[in-house]
Amino acid sequence: MLSIKLVSHLLKKMEMHPIWQQKKLTEYCNEKGIHITAYSPIRGQGTVWGTNQVMNSEVLQEIARAKGKSVVQICLRWAYEQGVSLVVKSFNKERMKQNLEIFDRKLSPEELYKI
Ligand SMILES: NC(=O)c1ccc[n+]([C@@H]2O[C@H](COP(=O)([O-])OP(=O)(O)OC[C@H]3O[C@@H](n4cnc5c(N)ncnc54)[C@H](OP(=O)(O)O)[C@@H]3O)[C@@H](O)[C@H]2O)c1
Repeated sequence: MLSIKLVSHLLKKMEMHPIWQQKKLTEYCNEKGIHITAYSPIRGQGTVWGTNQVMNSEVLQEIARAKGKSVVQICLRWAYEQGVSLVVKSFNKERMKQNLEIFDRKLSPEELYKI
């Protein structure tokens, strides 16, 4: 006998990165069991609609130097550690690869606090 279970998922997609952390909305979604997907997770770096605020952040630069990572990788790692999924866009093969290399270095509580 074939049994099919239907599960409904609640999902919220929103702009989210260290510059715009969306703390209240994240808390609300966590309480309600709504999964968040962060778009523009590096603040649309280099696009006409985005800004360079992530790349220019001294805090992110300092953490990146200490960790031997790029600023973008620290930014993506931060989002990953918030428990959200993320949609970062690149047309560049090398950058796509770099954007996946975020799983080997955890941010410390001090680094998370600074961000
Ligand atoms: N309302 C919505 O649902 C909504 C709104 C906004 C965005 N989105 C979606 O979310 C996705 C991402 O958003 P987004 O494109 O605004 O912002 P983003 O992913 O934060 O930034 C994309 C920009 O960052 C550059 N980039 C990517 N990786 C990089 C790296 N490692 N180093 C340096 N630069 C890097 C890309 O250039 P290169 O391509 O040259 O690497 C591109 O200019 C898109 O697919 C978009 O469609 C959805």
